Amino acid sequence: MSTGKYKAASEEKSCAAGAFEIHGTQGSRDSFIQEIFSTIASRIDFLSSFFSFGLDHVWRTKLVSSLELNGDEQVLDVCTGTGKLAFLLAEKVVRGGSVQGVDFSREMLREARGKLSPRCSNIAFSFSDAKALDFPENSFDAVTVSFGMRNIPDTAAALRQAIRVLKPGGKFCCLELTPPTGRWIKPLYKLYCFKVMPFIAMKVLNTAVPYNYLPRSIDAFPPSAEFRRTIETCGFTAVTVHPMTFGIATIYGARKAR
Ligand SMILES: C[S@@+](CC[C@H](N)C(=O)[O-])C[C@H]1O[C@@H](n2cnc3c(N)ncnc32)[C@H](O)[C@@H]1O
Repeated sequence: MSTGKYKAASEEKSCAAGAFEIHGTQGSRDSFIQEIFSTIASRIDFLSSFFSFGLDHVWRTKLVSSLELNGDEQVLDVCTGTGKLAFLLAEKVVRGGSVQGVDFSREMLREARGKLSPRCSNIAFSFSDAKALDFPENSFDAVTVSFGMRNIPDTAAALRQAIRVLKPGGKFCCLELTPPTGRWIKPLYKLYCFKVMPFIAMKVLNTAVPYNYLPRSIDAFPPSAEFRRTIETCGFTAVTVHPMTFGIATIYGARKAR
């Protein structure tokens, strides 16, 4: 679908508070997500940093340090997008390790591959759906997801894939945007996410659809305690939950038992 047609159709659909995207079937949701990311692939790096005042980089860096990598690990970055987290991980696994970034948006993968240089010999990108990863079991020392999980309504399906491809003892780490809980920050956050961001996005992208969807997908994501239980139910152990910056982002950590 051309961007123009997509914009018109999607804006029509998303008028009713983004109900279609949040509550559609898995297939319709996947197509919607792929359309969203194909529309913003070339601008998402700039917009993510701009809208988060650079905090997205701080949070990804925290995720990387929480993994305590030695340098020889095989790491899988799921929902890698333009590879922002994958490149940070690759800088840490320089003693024989490697990073495989996977995504189901070809446009986002194109952006990621465009950043590769001859110096990046330990990183590769490929197409794969988080709900059906194309890797054998027990393949990776660590599996990461940043800002991707809330796009997958069946989070348990993605978590079961993550634990399947992890080696025994391997680490899982998920960074996700979460609604803040503080009384004074909540209204500011709502104003910023539901009004300011879509307004600016409309000026920059000529469509507000991706940034109408963003805050609704954050609201629709399970609360931390519930997501923690889902991680445990999927078989992980040693689950940790680490809220950051007034709770607007959270790092979930876990391990596959040995
Ligand atoms: C907000 S971007 C995050 C990209 C990157 N991880 C980062 O930190 O900037 C979310 C990415 O998740 C991908 N995604 C969403 N659902 C997916 C799925 N089921 N399988 C694979 N990728 C998916 C989208 O295509 C998009 O590139």
